Amino acid sequence: MNASFDGLSPDKQLALARQCFEQGDPWQAMAYCKAALSADKDHAGTLALLGQCLAATGDLPAAGHRLSRAIEIDPEQATPYLHLGEVNLQIGCTEEALRCYQHALQLQPDDVVILNAYALALWGTGQLDEARALFQRAVQLAPNNAFTRRNAQLLNSRLVDRWHFAMVNDEVRNRQFEAALKRAVTPDSVVLDIGAGTGLLSMMAARAGARHVIACEANPALAALAKDIVRDNGYSDRIRVINKPSLQLDPAVDFPRDRRPDVLVAEVFDTMVIGEGALNTFAHACHRLLSPDAVILPRQAVLYGGLVESERLWREGGADQAAGFDLSQLNTFRPDTFALEAASFSGRLLADEFPVFTFDLMGKQQTPATVCLDIPIVKAGICHALVFWIQLQLDDAVTLDSRPAFDAEAGRGEYCNHWYQVVQLLTPPVQVKPGMTLRVEASHNRQNVAAVIYDPGVKPSDRPAGRAGP
Ligand SMILES: C[S@@+](CC[C@H](N)C(=O)[O-])C[C@H]1O[C@@H](n2cnc3c(N)ncnc32)[C@H](O)[C@@H]1O
Repeated sequence: MNASFDGLSPDKQLALARQCFEQGDPWQAMAYCKAALSADKDHAGTLALLGQCLAATGDLPAAGHRLSRAIEIDPEQATPYLHLGEVNLQIGCTEEALRCYQHALQLQPDDVVILNAYALALWGTGQLDEARALFQRAVQLAPNNAFTRRNAQLLNSRLVDRWHFAMVNDEVRNRQFEAALKRAVTPDSVVLDIGAGTGLLSMMAARAGARHVIACEANPALAALAKDIVRDNGYSDRIRVINKPSLQLDPAVDFPRDRRPDVLVAEVFDTMVIGEGALNTFAHACHRLLSPDAVILPRQAVLYGGLVESERLWREGGADQAAGFDLSQLNTFRPDTFALEAASFSGRLLADEFPVFTFDLMGKQQTPATVCLDIPIVKAGICHALVFWIQLQLDDAVTLDSRPAFDAEAGRGEYCNHWYQVVQLLTPPVQVKPGMTLRVEASHNRQNVAAVIYDPGVKPSDRPAGRAGP
């Protein structure tokens, strides 16, 4: 649209400015705004639109100035507050932005655009509950607004880790836990489920016949969800969901008539076993919460390791040549370890798999904080990575593991597919052959595991720079 200002009233010029802006031409819109302002320099609506145009063309200080002036002239309009909020966010004045959105919402409480903008700003400052409430109101007001739904869903999805989906769909895991619960539970059992999540294992325990189940879940969103799920599945009379970390459970308050649970089920294991605080959770439960002869599921957890040749795996987290250029300096920023589904990368085990740490979960034995393992190589090749996986001993009958298939193993049987494997790369990779060993020095601090891998036959001064190991 070409601007022609002659003989147009300021109102007409403002209308044309709006039209240009909506059609994506802020420059033309600015020209109309300026023409309208030459007749009435304090027209709040025109100043506000000019501010919006200036913001759209990147002149944020000028935009802020015009929007503030529009608010001074007419403080009852929500739109300038909304856009001044956006400008403030972009220039890093977050507190001021929140104040602007709050004003805008006070003036127009049912405006979906304001609700969304304010919620996003609150989310950005970590005020998730407030943001969630605003998104929910926006969804109620405009159920078919795609952005509102997306934002609300995006925020919800931040409250519960995505792996919960793969986990509840891991049929092997579910079946084995249920089988072990059936063996452990009697009609008189009081079961404590620590880390109840959706309440799945609690409902299995109730279905197995337990008299009472205490479902303890630290995450407030999950605990609220578990209550609903338990109720909808008809188990509210026997399962009590408690939203607390188990370390804060008080037997006098939280257990039925102070009776100590005689079965513990706790599936609180990450890809390296102990990252979710499982060791402290089990130790505390065994010593402070359970009856002395309680059945503990699982009773032991093992972190396994395998030395692997897999060029593909190495390329997921290491760099050398790319398009003929040496990019190996990128390795300065490579992750120490990363989790991924190693089964989807073809790989060969170059040595027998080995337990790195064995954790007793019954509160009787401590696991040494450091181990030094010399792993004999059995196949020649290039060792690209140490791959970790976990194994849980549920009871005498059942062991669960997340060992990936190596060497294109066919029909290796059932395994739990939701726990990813953790990969630690050797940078650079190490050429190996039978008769050699690679040394794995691993440490844990009850929460994290760290390892270094090196060829003990090579003097430290002769090891290539960037290689893990002392
Ligand atoms: C791996 S999920 C298992 C969920 C559910 N038990 C299942 O098997 O489907 C672990 C859950 O435990 C919770 N959690 C971990 N440690 C906890 C603790 N000490 N007390 C309460 N909840 C805990 C986490 O918030 C998470 O929801």
